[in-house]
Amino acid sequence: MANAIVTRPLAMHRQPRPLPGAIAPGSVGAMAWKPTEIPDQSGRTFVVTGANGGLGSVTTEVLAAKGATVIMACRNTTTAQEIAARIDGDVRVAELDLSDSTSIRKFADDCDAFDVLINNAGVMNLPFSRTKDGFEAQWGINHLGHFALTGLLLDRIADRVVTLASIAHLMAPKLRVDDLDYEHRRYLRGLAYAQAKLCNLMFARELQRRLSDSGSAKRSYAVHPGAAATDLFAHTETPLDYVTKPFIRLVGHPPAMAAHSTLFAATMPDADPDVYWGPTRFFGTQGPVGKSSSTRLSKNKRLWEQLWAQSEQRTRVTYRF
Ligand SMILES: NC(=O)c1ccc[n+]([C@@H]2O[C@H](COP(=O)([O-])OP(=O)(O)OC[C@H]3O[C@@H](n4cnc5c(N)ncnc54)[C@H](OP(=O)(O)O)[C@@H]3O)[C@@H](O)[C@H]2O)c1
Repeated sequence: MANAIVTRPLAMHRQPRPLPGAIAPGSVGAMAWKPTEIPDQSGRTFVVTGANGGLGSVTTEVLAAKGATVIMACRNTTTAQEIAARIDGDVRVAELDLSDSTSIRKFADDCDAFDVLINNAGVMNLPFSRTKDGFEAQWGINHLGHFALTGLLLDRIADRVVTLASIAHLMAPKLRVDDLDYEHRRYLRGLAYAQAKLCNLMFARELQRRLSDSGSAKRSYAVHPGAAATDLFAHTETPLDYVTKPFIRLVGHPPAMAAHSTLFAATMPDADPDVYWGPTRFFGTQGPVGKSSSTRLSKNKRLWEQLWAQSEQRTRVTYRF
């Protein structure tokens, strides 16, 4: 097997330098965290959704190099197998389509106990479409799919859940929990993505609150990767995208660095689950992992509960703590 996943070269990236005042994990002024600090992960198993590209494949590669068993939970098992074959270590592929509750339930039924679930898969700015279950696709895949998956697997997760949100949640001025399927308002794909990522963030926080209240030692983390020019930007076709894609290359960082916040939250024993972890430089688009800012709306606990109730009702998955 080859040694490493080949990721697309991103010609315009500048190498990040530590910034004075950057908030690094643990304490202000500490050295920037790097994946070299990940403790040996031998004997631990991770499930990574959407691991057949972008940040998911980088995450898989680093975890496998640290001795972990990684299950790549992917809808495209052909590319997943190709990537798995290039990674040294114990990497397996399993089929999971987050747009289809039958696929999610089958994946969960077949899954043995494991340590960490990384809710990484995502789609962005899609033209209006629905999942196989009839949900608007962006909140259906990004949020509801992961909500159902996590709920079905929770009793088999020994350690923690990491869910990827986004800086894009800042673009959601409000959350219409009663109409996330856009049945009673005009569909705006950028707004739908922002709201789906806000749902990821609120879900991760509410899950942590419920785990903590129930006395569980399991933890739930919300993270974001900053900006990285991955295939996430390949599905958008508006005129604005001609500006967005070069802009992301300019302000973002390589996928290998964008995965740091996920890797930090997934592996560091003392990572604080009440912190929203992400890059800390240039408005959170790049830089060392640290405490990220989030909107007041994303901290609204009443909304967390409403979203949770709506998600349980829509997915027919009831969490047991
Ligand atoms: N890149 C950024 O700048 C950025 C910024 C903020 C947040 N994020 C978040 O980071 C996460 C990873 O994104 P990325 O940048 O790595 O994008 P990416 O390269 O497009 O990877 C997304 C992955 O999700 C998978 N996926 C999509 N729909 C799925 C479904 N229905 N079922 C299962 N898997 C599905 C894709 O599989 P296919 O190959 O089958 O499509 C792909 O493997 C996403 O949650 C995204 O919202 C990224």
